[in-house]
Amino acid sequence: MNEAHGANDRVSAPRAIDLERLVAELAKLTPDWHAHGLFSQRATSALLRNAKADVQHSLETGVGRSTLLLSNLSPQHTVFTVPDDSLQATLESPLLRRESVTVVEGPTQLTLPRHKFEHEIDLALLDGPHAYPFPDLEYYYVYPHLSPGALLVLDDIHIPTVNNLFRFVSEDSMFEPIEVVGTTAFLRRTTAPGFPIDQDSWETQRYNLDRFPLSGWPAWGGPRPRMRNLVPLRVRRVVKGALPKRLRQWLISS
Ligand SMILES: C[S@@+](CC[C@H](N)C(=O)[O-])C[C@H]1O[C@@H](n2cnc3c(N)ncnc32)[C@H](O)[C@@H]1O
Repeated sequence: MNEAHGANDRVSAPRAIDLERLVAELAKLTPDWHAHGLFSQRATSALLRNAKADVQHSLETGVGRSTLLLSNLSPQHTVFTVPDDSLQATLESPLLRRESVTVVEGPTQLTLPRHKFEHEIDLALLDGPHAYPFPDLEYYYVYPHLSPGALLVLDDIHIPTVNNLFRFVSEDSMFEPIEVVGTTAFLRRTTAPGFPIDQDSWETQRYNLDRFPLSGWPAWGGPRPRMRNLVPLRVRRVVKGALPKRLRQWLISS
């Protein structure tokens, strides 16, 4: 199932909206408005604070309160979600700016790989499936399309699988972390070149550079690498170069 509703190629300026009124109305939605956990009101304010002034194209995975907000901010907002009560509540809400929204129905695991991105994305909120490896999968399909300066929003970073992704992107040269509000993270796409999707230069990624090689003692990723990371990388490299090869190998494998 990959059904697109309300597809609209024309990009028109968003209607002049009274954002204060919209935020006040969104605040009235109670947690039972849909059954999957609403984007927090604090995160709503942070999103407004951090979004580019002129968002033309945006997307989100999952649907709900955030969709009501984004439909009023962006003239072309694409929502990738499963057909459930969250979608129904959103489509029935008078706060939804329906003409701005295209809904792609189905699990993002299936719909995102098939989706043809026709524009750069100025704002992306990942808040769909949270089980491993789906947040990473969503990221893989979305990051190549983010425009310089785009806002990347990761919700529910208290969930370990989402937190893994958050830690990776917050250290990557493609993103500048802006702020974390409750359990929602906001990052800005920098002008750094996009990491090629068809190569494997893992050793150039900051996340790997700062941790490699993990130690096998006492368990992979145990306390020793974390203590080691307190020593600046340049110092570690000099010390490593000065150690005899066999000692180096023993330290890595022990
Ligand atoms: C945490 S809620 C999103 C809350 C929403 N951002 C809000 O502001 O109210 C997660 C959403 O992801 C949807 N979802 C769950 N699994 C999904 C999947 N595999 N693909 C797409 N959407 C999914 C759920 O239906 C739900 O709408």
